[in-house]
Amino acid sequence: MDRKPDRRGTEESLALIRMSLKSPSTMAESGSHFEGSVPHIFVTLGASGDLAKKKIYPTLWWLFRDNLLPSNTTFYGYARSKLTVEELRNKCHQYMKVKPTEEARYEEFWKLNHYVSGNYDSRRDFELLNQTLNARETGPVAHRLFYLALPPSVFEQVTVFIRNACMAEKGWTRIIIEKPFGRDAETSKQLSTHLASLFKEEQMYRIDHYLGKEMVQNLMALRFGNRIFGPTWNRECISSVLISFKEPFGTQGRGGYFDQFGIIRDVMQNHLLQILSLVAMEKPASVHPDDIRNEKVKVLRFISELSIEDVVLGQYVGDPSGEGEAKLGYLDDKTVDRSSTTPTYALAVLKIKNERWDGVPFILRCGKALNERKAEVRIQYQDVPGDIFHGKAKRNELVIRVQPGEAVYVKLMNKTPGMTFDLEETELDLTYGSRYKDVKMPDAYERLLLDVFCGSQMHFVRSDELSEAWRIFTPLLHYIEEHKIKPIPYVYGSRGPKEADEMCAKNNFKYYGSYKWVQPSL
Ligand code: BG6
Repeated sequence: MDRKPDRRGTEESLALIRMSLKSPSTMAESGSHFEGSVPHIFVTLGASGDLAKKKIYPTLWWLFRDNLLPSNTTFYGYARSKLTVEELRNKCHQYMKVKPTEEARYEEFWKLNHYVSGNYDSRRDFELLNQTLNARETGPVAHRLFYLALPPSVFEQVTVFIRNACMAEKGWTRIIIEKPFGRDAETSKQLSTHLASLFKEEQMYRIDHYLGKEMVQNLMALRFGNRIFGPTWNRECISSVLISFKEPFGTQGRGGYFDQFGIIRDVMQNHLLQILSLVAMEKPASVHPDDIRNEKVKVLRFISELSIEDVVLGQYVGDPSGEGEAKLGYLDDKTVDRSSTTPTYALAVLKIKNERWDGVPFILRCGKALNERKAEVRIQYQDVPGDIFHGKAKRNELVIRVQPGEAVYVKLMNKTPGMTFDLEETELDLTYGSRYKDVKMPDAYERLLLDVFCGSQMHFVRSDELSEAWRIFTPLLHYIEEHKIKPIPYVYGSRGPKEADEMCAKNNFKYYGSYKWVQPSL
C-alpha cells in the first residue's frame, strides 16, 4: 500500500487545527492554515435529503463559523429537487444552532452556498455541474470534495459520473461516503470493487462517525500513552470486555430504513466493531493512518465468524403504562412490516484467538428503546488471586464512557474511610465536564470533515477493514434472515431481554448491582 496519502494540506495544518479546536478564536486570528487561498469546493450530493440537512450542512456551518476551513471554500448542493439556496437554507435552519451573535457570520456562510438541481442518472447533468465548478476555479490549483449523502440505489451510477465528468483537473478530489456499505460480504465486495475501479484508496473517506468521537479517539492515547495499562492489557488480567450502545428511543418513523438493516448492520457491525478493534489491536508502529489500520485489520482477522449461539436478539414491544412513543412497539411503526423479525437489540460474544486475547470474551451489546442513552467500553479485570478479604473485593473495571458526558473512570476497591477496616467500591474519576470545563468538544462530523480537508485518513475505514467486518457478521446475518429467527420481545424503556444478562454472566462478565457511577456535579 502506498504510504503517502493524497494530501496537499500539510501535517502542520492538521496539528494547528487540532490545537485550534481548543479555542477556535486562535485560528481566526492566525488565519487559514491551508495553502493560501486555493479554492476548495465541497459538493454535497443529495443536498435536499435528511442527512444533508441534519448533519452535513450544520457541520459545514460550524466549521466555517470557527474559521477552521480553508479561506477560499465554497459549497455546492446537488439533488433532484428544484430548490433555491434560500429554500435549502430554510430546510436546514432548525439544525444549525445559530446564536444571535453569529447572524452576520451565518449570512456569510450562505452567501458561499450554491445549489444545482440535476438527475442522478444523467451524465449530462454531471457535466453541467462540472462546468459550474470549473467556472469558480480560477487560478492554477483547485481541490474538490464530494460528500455522497445518497440512497444506495443511485450510488454506483453517481460515482461513475463523478469519475467521468467531475474530477478536479487542477488539484485533488476526495470522496466521502457513509454506510450502508452493502448488506453483506458479497454486496460490500461488489461495491468496493466498483469504487476501487474508479478511485484510489487515498481518495476515499469511508465515514464511521464513531471514529470521530472524542473518547473513541482517546482509546489510543489511553492505551499507548500510559505505562500502567499496557502490562495488564491481556488475557492474564482481563476477564471480559463489554462494549455497549444504548438508545432510549425507538425507530422514530425511520423504521422503513431500519427494517431493511436491523441493529446488527446499523450499529454493531460498524460502530461497535470499530471500537473493539481499537481496544484490542496491537500497538501500531507509528500513528500513521496505515500503520493504525494495519493493526485494526490484523486483530479482526483473529476473530472467527459469528454463529447464532453467540448472540441474543431482541425486538421492542410497546409499554402500555408508558407515555407517548413508549406505548408503541417496533411493529406499530407504520413503515415496518407487521411480521418483521428484524432485531432492534443484539448482544454478540466475539472471541479473538490470538496470544493476547485467547479466552477473553468481547461482548458487543446494542439496542434501541432501552432504559437510557449510553455508549461505553467496560474492561473488567479478573478477580484478585489469593483473596484475603473473604470475597469482598469486587472486580476492577476501567470504563471509557463515550457518551453522554465523556469520562474515564476506574472502579476499584478502597478501605472504607474512618475507623472500620472494611472494603468498599469507589472510583478514580476523570469526568471531562469537570476536568476540562472550557474545552469545546467538537461534534464527530466536525472532526471527520475537517480531516478530509486535511487529507488525514486516520479516522476513516479502509476497504480491508470493511471486508473483515462483513466476514465476521455475514454468516450470522444470513442465518437470521433465512431462518426468520424470532427476536425476544422486550419492553420499551427496559434494559433489554434478560437472556442478554445471562449471556454476559456466562461470558465472564460479573454484574454486582452494588455500585453505580454517579456523574460528578459539574
Ligand atoms: C447511526 C445509526 O449510525 O448512529 C443510528 O444509523 C444511531 O441508528 C446513530 O441512532 C447513533 O449515533 P450517535 O452519535 O447519536 O450515538
